[in-house]
Amino acid sequence: MSLQIQSGVSLKPFNTFGVDVRARLFAEAHSDADVREALAYAAEHKVELLVIGGGSNLLLTRDIDALVLRMASRGVRITHEDCGMAVVEAEAGEPWHPFVQDMLAQGLSGLENLSLIPGTVGAAPMQNIGAYGVELKDVFHSLIALDRQTGELREFTLPECAFGYRDSIFKQQPGRWLILRVRFRLSFSATLHLDYGPVRQRLQEQGVTEPTPIHVSRAICAIRSEKLPDPVTLGNAGSFFKNPLVSAELAARIRESHPGLVAYPQADGQVKLAAGWLIEQAGWKGFREGDAGVHQLQALVLVNYGAASGRDLLNLAQRIQADIHERFGVSLEMEPNLY
Ligand code: EPU
Repeated sequence: MSLQIQSGVSLKPFNTFGVDVRARLFAEAHSDADVREALAYAAEHKVELLVIGGGSNLLLTRDIDALVLRMASRGVRITHEDCGMAVVEAEAGEPWHPFVQDMLAQGLSGLENLSLIPGTVGAAPMQNIGAYGVELKDVFHSLIALDRQTGELREFTLPECAFGYRDSIFKQQPGRWLILRVRFRLSFSATLHLDYGPVRQRLQEQGVTEPTPIHVSRAICAIRSEKLPDPVTLGNAGSFFKNPLVSAELAARIRESHPGLVAYPQADGQVKLAAGWLIEQAGWKGFREGDAGVHQLQALVLVNYGAASGRDLLNLAQRIQADIHERFGVSLEMEPNLY
C-alpha cells in the first residue's frame, strides 16, 4: 500500500488562485496502482473523489468534503517514430510547460504555441487547452483513461474525445473519466503557426528572420509573461471566462454603439467576441475589492491579491457576468471548474 492519505489538508498550494480551503482527505497518485487504491478507498469509505492536476483551472469556494487526489505520475517516452513524426506518451502528472520545453529540446515541434500554459499533461485534454492559433487537438494522438464507473482502461482516439473550444467529452462527463496518460503526435520537421495575434510581429522585433520552434516558444513566453500574471506572485486561473459565441446580428448591434468591438467570425456564421475587450469596455479592468480583482493588464483574468476567498472571486465573477449581460446582451461562461 503506497498511497499516503492525509486528513484536513490545506489546498492553498494546490490551486493557482491560492485560495485557502481544506480537503477532508488528500493524497497524491504517482502510479496507476495509486489511482486504483484511491478509487477503492473512496468507494469503501463512501467519500467522493475529486481528481486535480496542477490546480490551474479551479475555483474552490468551500472546504472540500472529498478525497482530493492530485495526479503526480511522471514519465515521458517516445512510443513510435516514422517519417519524421513521433508519438510521445506522457504521464498525467507531468507539468505542462517543462514537458513542452523537453520536447523542443529533443527537436520535436508542435507544442511551441502552447508554451507557458500552467497545469499538467493530464488536465490539458479536459478543456482542450489552446493558445496562439493552436489547440491541444491539433497535436493529439490518443489518451488512456480509467473509467471510474467500471474500473476499466479505455483508449480514446481524436474523434472520440469530442474536442471543442475549451471543451471535450471528459469535461462533458464530469467525474467519469480519469486521464492517466496522453499521447501526442509531434514532428521532427517544423510547421510553424505564426499568424495568430502578435506572434510574427514579436519574432520580427526580436530580429528573428528564420524562426525555429524554439524561437516561437520564446516569443510566446514573452507575450504571455507581459499580459498574464504569474500565479506564483499573483493568484489567478488564466482566462476566467470563455470568449463567447454570439449571433452575427448581436455582434452587428453591439458594433453600432462600439465600433472597436473585437470579433472573430466563425465558419458556422456565429461570431466569437473577445470577452476581455467587453469586460474592459465595461470598466472592470484593474477593479479591486478587498483581495479579489480584475487584472490590470488583461481583463479576462481574475486575480487574488492574497486573502480573497473563492466566494469573493465568485461574487466578483457573477457581478461581471450580470453587468456584461445588461450592457451587451452577452452571456459569459466561466472557464474554471467550480467547487
Ligand atoms: N482585449 C482587450 N482588453 C483586455 C483583454 C483583451 O481589449 O483586457 C482584446 C485584445 O486587445 C485582443 C482581444 O481582446 O484584441 C483578444 O485578447 P488576447 O489575444 O489577449 O486573447 P484572449 O481572448 O484574451 C485567448 C485565450 C487565452 C490564450 C489567448 C492567446 C480564451 C478564454 N482565452 O485569450 O487562453 O492564451 O487567447 O491565444 O480563449 C486561458 O484559457 O486560460 C488562456 C489564457
